[in-house]
Amino acid sequence: MSRRERLLGAGAPLFYDEPLHFVSGKGVWLTAANGRRYLDVYNNVPNVGHCHPHILQALQRQAGRLNVHTRYLDETILAYGEDLIARLDDSLSMLFLTCSGSEANDLALRMARLNTGRQGIICSNMTYHGNTTAVDELATLFNDGQPGGPAVKAVDFPCQYRPLDGLSGNALLQAHTDQIRNAIAEFETEGIGFAGLLFCPIFANEGLPEPPDNYLKSIASIVHQAGGVLIFDEVQSAFGRTGHMWGHQVSGVIPDIMTLGKPMGNGHPIAGLVCTSQLGNGLRDQTMYFNTFGGNPVSCAVGHAVLEVIDQEDLINNAQQIGNHLRSGLNKLALKHPFIGDIRHQGLFFGVELVEDRTSKVPATQTAHDVVNLMAKNGVLISSIGRDSNILKMRPPLCFTQEHADLLLETLGESLSRA
Ligand SMILES: Cc1ncc(COP(=O)(O)O)c(C=O)c1O
Repeated sequence: MSRRERLLGAGAPLFYDEPLHFVSGKGVWLTAANGRRYLDVYNNVPNVGHCHPHILQALQRQAGRLNVHTRYLDETILAYGEDLIARLDDSLSMLFLTCSGSEANDLALRMARLNTGRQGIICSNMTYHGNTTAVDELATLFNDGQPGGPAVKAVDFPCQYRPLDGLSGNALLQAHTDQIRNAIAEFETEGIGFAGLLFCPIFANEGLPEPPDNYLKSIASIVHQAGGVLIFDEVQSAFGRTGHMWGHQVSGVIPDIMTLGKPMGNGHPIAGLVCTSQLGNGLRDQTMYFNTFGGNPVSCAVGHAVLEVIDQEDLINNAQQIGNHLRSGLNKLALKHPFIGDIRHQGLFFGVELVEDRTSKVPATQTAHDVVNLMAKNGVLISSIGRDSNILKMRPPLCFTQEHADLLLETLGESLSRA
């Protein structure tokens, strides 16, 4: 710990009251230095399982053959990109590869701004999209809901559990759409102009809130009417997590730009964006974009192997099946544990909101903290999210089975009883 603190600084984030030291991983299991095994219900990056042999083989094969960059003709890059694009709506036909989700979102902002000639970006007031200077302006989760500069405006994220002004149904939808319209109008008045809106389509960092019906459809039409670009950050929601290949399939709304990352390389640093050819060519016409490591053949071989495993192991279907099993188990736990205020999920992505009591809905921050740490002590890894850190976040590798889900439920039940 002291070596780490000297080297990385005391503020370098570290999970759990008693930090864990892992030395190996396999499937949904991580092994600590003392030999103890932990069920991984947190990590969405090793999406198809830790140290998957098919991914390792692909990585090793390509690394032993050739690794250059995207400025040569290369079949590995094209084969991967074409497979990826074929899984999307026809309108999303161009691909840009990067090394991180932050870079992908940074590029998406540039693309929207260059194509529209305007600067204003709308985001939610409890979000995180990455760590470059431009993207950091959107990091409202760590900044009391406030954006970091005049070219970004944050609107309330949509949520039926804690609705804006206690509204519901159409009135709630109207209140949210009014906020978007007002933000666009303000950008125009201020001479900044409206370039686009950037949301995660399942609001992962906001705690998976359930929006009012037709929320994203209404937002998409407002953005497009104003000549803006609709950007979905699918860094967390893509590659089968939601029980669909893409998070935007939950609402059926297709973005103009979709950014990708985390699970794309199962731990290997590959990320990127797909976009309409109009936006992609618009960027290419106005600037030179190149990324030294982004889209190199080894990364592409790994990315391709991830797609193959998702298909071969039917992991999207598994996310649906096991997600539903876990959901009904959590519903049963809620009958016994009044701390559970709300359960939200998409496939194998869960947000379980803990409250002091179900009427006041006061966030049970300390309880969530205790539950997360008790679970780690009991060998199951989860985390918490939300501005009050009271939403349990569970997002295991997609090869999670019913047996794993039952172990998670048992440990969660025990931890809730003791917290
Ligand atoms: C939704 C979302 N977008 C983007 C990012 C940034 O990705 P990276 O850390 O790969 O830069 C994150 C990281 O947590 C994220 O949750």
